[in-house]
Amino acid sequence: MGRWSQRLAMPFLEFAGVPSRGRVLDAGCGTGSLTLPLAAHQGLEAIDAVDFAEDFVAALRGRTNDPRIRARQGDVCALPYEAASFEAVYSLLVLHFVSDADRAIAEMHRVLRPGALAAATVWASGGMPSWRLFWDTVLLHEPTAEAIAPVRRPLTSAGELRMAFERAGFMHVVETRLTISMDYADFDDFWHPTAYGQGRFGAFFDALPEKNRDRLRDAVKAAYCAGEREGPRSFPSTALAVRCIA
Ligand SMILES: C[S@@+](CC[C@H](N)C(=O)[O-])C[C@H]1O[C@@H](n2cnc3c(N)ncnc32)[C@H](O)[C@@H]1O
Repeated sequence: MGRWSQRLAMPFLEFAGVPSRGRVLDAGCGTGSLTLPLAAHQGLEAIDAVDFAEDFVAALRGRTNDPRIRARQGDVCALPYEAASFEAVYSLLVLHFVSDADRAIAEMHRVLRPGALAAATVWASGGMPSWRLFWDTVLLHEPTAEAIAPVRRPLTSAGELRMAFERAGFMHVVETRLTISMDYADFDDFWHPTAYGQGRFGAFFDALPEKNRDRLRDAVKAAYCAGEREGPRSFPSTALAVRCIA
């Protein structure tokens, strides 16, 4: 987990900014792609991190012995913190997966001190050409994969994130686009994590007859290579981000 979120974390923090001191929260921390870069800011006195998934929280705890980091299991829609506790709250690639994003954003507002910073980012709808290439090819050859294909998620079109934070009462909401490069060393680097990973496609692929698996792999490889020699490829990928003041 976290290959691309680690890469997005830096431009996200540059856009959002980090307070010079105080206590901050990573809401939906996963395994810590944002929590750990936050800890590089030595002036911060406490870095809280919360995620629904206990195993991710455990993985984050295993990645750091920084005493300022306090990771715990919890729901971003009912943050387990007192009101007005933080100088900043961040959310990296979480809000488009949350069942009630408005509730989560209201919770971000509640736990911030007045005048403190909130920032969030989500992948933009259509912003990941490598996924488009992958899924277009899969669906052409295995139409039943429609049942597991990614759907358009809330907050992923321009303006939606900004409006959601404005609705929650945040001020000075600024939305931008952040673009990172998704780089693959070769086709296997592109194919393996998805085809043999723990995600829904991994299970779907595993259940296919061998000849379908071979045909699908060859088709995705042909799309990846696009008539050129097999080798490294880079796909610019775009996220939407907001920063604002409580
Ligand atoms: C794509 S991951 C991003 C994780 C991390 N921020 C990163 O960028 O690596 C989405 C995360 O949101 C968490 N999540 C989804 N809904 C949540 C909720 N209601 N409360 C807390 N965490 C939630 C998931 O458990 C997962 O760790």
